[in-house]
Amino acid sequence: MRQIIVTGGGTGIGRAVAAAFAAQGDQVVITGRRAAVLAATTAELGPSVRAVAFDAADPAQVEAALADLPDQVDVLVNNAGGNTDIGAERAPGLAGLAAAWQANLHANLLSAVLVTAALRDRLRTGGTVINISSIAAHRGGSGSYGAAKAAVEAWTLTLAQELAPAGITANTIAPGYIEDTEFFGPGISPERRAWNITNTLNKRPGTPADLAGTALYLASPAATHLTAQTLHLNGGTFSGR
Ligand SMILES: NC(=O)c1ccc[n+]([C@@H]2O[C@H](COP(=O)([O-])OP(=O)(O)OC[C@H]3O[C@@H](n4cnc5c(N)ncnc54)[C@H](OP(=O)(O)O)[C@@H]3O)[C@@H](O)[C@H]2O)c1
Repeated sequence: MRQIIVTGGGTGIGRAVAAAFAAQGDQVVITGRRAAVLAATTAELGPSVRAVAFDAADPAQVEAALADLPDQVDVLVNNAGGNTDIGAERAPGLAGLAAAWQANLHANLLSAVLVTAALRDRLRTGGTVINISSIAAHRGGSGSYGAAKAAVEAWTLTLAQELAPAGITANTIAPGYIEDTEFFGPGISPERRAWNITNTLNKRPGTPADLAGTALYLASPAATHLTAQTLHLNGGTFSGR
């Protein structure tokens, strides 16, 4: 039975990805910082999903969590993250700027780098690492968040090079606007939502299920020759051709 780890799996995209793997009969571990949120999700998703709570951007917490994570891992989905600027008050001056940039780099880049490094020796041949970037890495407009996601994509190339000899793939999914997540905090304005949808070719928002379908494919036997790529999942808002 395959062992799947989905960081940030308690809510939004990660929750849907975890549910999709579990529905296929895989064993899934979801992670996140809020134990109560994880517990509620595992209760809903059933016995093949369990939770391990830790901060993926904290080296000591990642190391401490290792004892509770599977000994062998077939699929690692580095999904934890988000735009830490949303709803945040920035402290003044360069110190405030540095703290804001560090927050996004920690949440989105370091979290994936640390969890992957910690689990590297547990990744099984035939397995895959799926990182989650963002359209923000390609369109600008979101400062340190977009820069952190661009770094995720650059690092994924190195990761794919390192893992290929072991028969393991590594790719990035770069979503556009995805609804039904906690990404926008208390909510997105109707105007911004409409703008996001207008910019798609198919005139609909993305859903966590869209991400789940792509993740299932990347983790399937059909995708073993697909590595070192960024898949743009955005209804055509941005073309990565
Ligand atoms: N929604 C969109 O439109 C969109 C578009 C492009 C990319 N993305 C990306 O998609 C991914 C999933 O986001 P989402 O949209 O599903 O939003 P979400 O519902 O806020 O999910 C993010 C998850 O990551 C966890 N997380 C955040 N920082 C963490 C940390 N340091 N350690 C462990 N867990 C952490 C959160 O749980 P805790 O707070 O409990 O830790 C939460 O469950 C993110 O990487 C995001 O940047 C989203």
